[in-house]
Amino acid sequence: MTDLIPPYGGTLKDLRLDDTTAQARRTAAADYPSWDLTDRQLCDLELLANGGFSPLEGFMGQADYEGVVNDMRLADGTLWPMPVTLDVSEAFAETLGAGARVALRDPEGVILAILTVDDIWRPDREHEAEQVFGTRDAAHPAVYWLREHSHPVYVGGRVEALDLPGHYDFTHLRLTPAELRERFRRDGWRRVVAFQTRNPMHRAHVELTFLAARQAEANLLIHPVVGMTKPGDVDHYSRVRCYEHVLHKYPEQTTALSLLPLAMRMGGPREAVWHAIIRRNYGCTHLIVGRDHAGPGKDSNGEELYGPYDAQDMVTRHADELGIQMVPFRMMVYVQERAGYAPIDEVDEATETVMNISGTEFRRRMREGLEIPDWFGYPEVVEELRKTYPPRARQGFTLFFTGLSGSGKSTIANAVMVKLMERGGRPVTLLDGDRVRKHLSSELGFSKAHRDLNIRRIGFVASEITRNGGAAICAPIAPYAATRDAVREMVESANGGFLEIHVATPLEECERRDRKGLYAQARAGRITGFTGIDDPYEVPESPALRIDTTDCSVEEAAQQVLLKIEAMGFIDLE
Ligand code: PPS
Repeated sequence: MTDLIPPYGGTLKDLRLDDTTAQARRTAAADYPSWDLTDRQLCDLELLANGGFSPLEGFMGQADYEGVVNDMRLADGTLWPMPVTLDVSEAFAETLGAGARVALRDPEGVILAILTVDDIWRPDREHEAEQVFGTRDAAHPAVYWLREHSHPVYVGGRVEALDLPGHYDFTHLRLTPAELRERFRRDGWRRVVAFQTRNPMHRAHVELTFLAARQAEANLLIHPVVGMTKPGDVDHYSRVRCYEHVLHKYPEQTTALSLLPLAMRMGGPREAVWHAIIRRNYGCTHLIVGRDHAGPGKDSNGEELYGPYDAQDMVTRHADELGIQMVPFRMMVYVQERAGYAPIDEVDEATETVMNISGTEFRRRMREGLEIPDWFGYPEVVEELRKTYPPRARQGFTLFFTGLSGSGKSTIANAVMVKLMERGGRPVTLLDGDRVRKHLSSELGFSKAHRDLNIRRIGFVASEITRNGGAAICAPIAPYAATRDAVREMVESANGGFLEIHVATPLEECERRDRKGLYAQARAGRITGFTGIDDPYEVPESPALRIDTTDCSVEEAAQQVLLKIEAMGFIDLE
């Protein structure tokens, strides 16, 4: 019988109840207060429930949380680097007391688990950011999340799981720790080196993992994160299709692929320690830690938040306690003279030519439909990524006109729409201010809250149109910069272009035209809260284009827009 590495803490804490008990609890839980889990909490719950977070038995209570935040240790002294907490709203927290039971539900309302409350407290989230991530800079995705998305109250307690969160994608690859351990046992894999990744794999990654497996005399587990990764990453559907291609590059029976439903925090060194613990629970004896492991990128001054090998150092410091060995790696580069890959520290740059394509350069080449050399990527993988990231001429985009009432937004938007339709090739949708207010937002008025809601609705629709390769043309006033930025974020994360166009016709000219007679009414006090008169308009600081229609015909304005879209590569005017 093969002797696998024991889980962290000795026992795999699978928190799932047997079917009969689960059914009884489900019935009882219908009357409990309910919390709808956020995407991140859903991921955390999955790893709690399946034992990936052993020895945790629930969302952390205050003593464990404070120990982890301040000293990287649970209250009983066990090394644990990352808070795993259930954050809830003030209003919800007020309905709870110690000993209360809470039904934890997925977005469809299915009860996945029951939490028995031990602790309820208001954490100092800025302190948490500083201690855990080493910064209060919101350029760090986890700090941003703490500040902008987390709820103010934490609730800790034991979890009994009724079900794992449901997945319909790649189900054959979603092995739990127990299932993966069973597979290792069956196949006689005693030494297993895990490769953590949130990116598509190219030749350098295959070479690196290959070397690592050979060095550790171990089998290889490609264990990509498919829960939540860094905003802007390639979506996991495309990545998994890439991994499936890559799997064929390894000798048969040496390598396995399984998906990890983790919500990453991009916590660099602390996250590397966490990854080691998780991989040990999944039955791995080794973990590859490369350059900038789980790195969050740069801070708001353009400085790297962590050193490239901080994560390796931290894992080394705790190697004994972790009980899983690290296989450290320097960056792999292609060496022209060797026609192969080597770790950068083993290359003599005085006599050898090092070649590398950075992530940014790779994305630029994909965007512009440029060639990706064979030494860098496997053609099957590149082709897969090209389906997800077509060149700009085939991507969707949103034109977002903003400006005062009567500035000419709708007129230019209409002209641009017609011009794009005349060219053909992309479905075009006009989301004009008045049309949206009639069809999407008829119940809304002009308070700040209502205007914001109106613009967010426009942003949602535009991002869906963009995602599906269409052109969305929006023409609301959209007076607030933060809301316009939120729309930009939505559209850009839908893999498309966003062009903000400020129709900068001055108020005097808009008022002189007063096509709808609204300025006269606003001046007379019959309409209040009218943009430009007694309501604010925040001028865009750096729009893609600024057009003043005072002395410019509609045709000229539309032409400027079309030229801009062409310059950015979204259309070809020839
Ligand atoms: S917003 O702020 O972006 O939600 O506004 P929007 O949806 O574009 O709607 C603007 C149109 O509504 C008419 N209208 C007003 N505009 C501004 N302030 C007040 N109080 C107001 N009341 C009615 C006005 O006709 C705007 O149309 P446009 O096309 O901009 O002239």
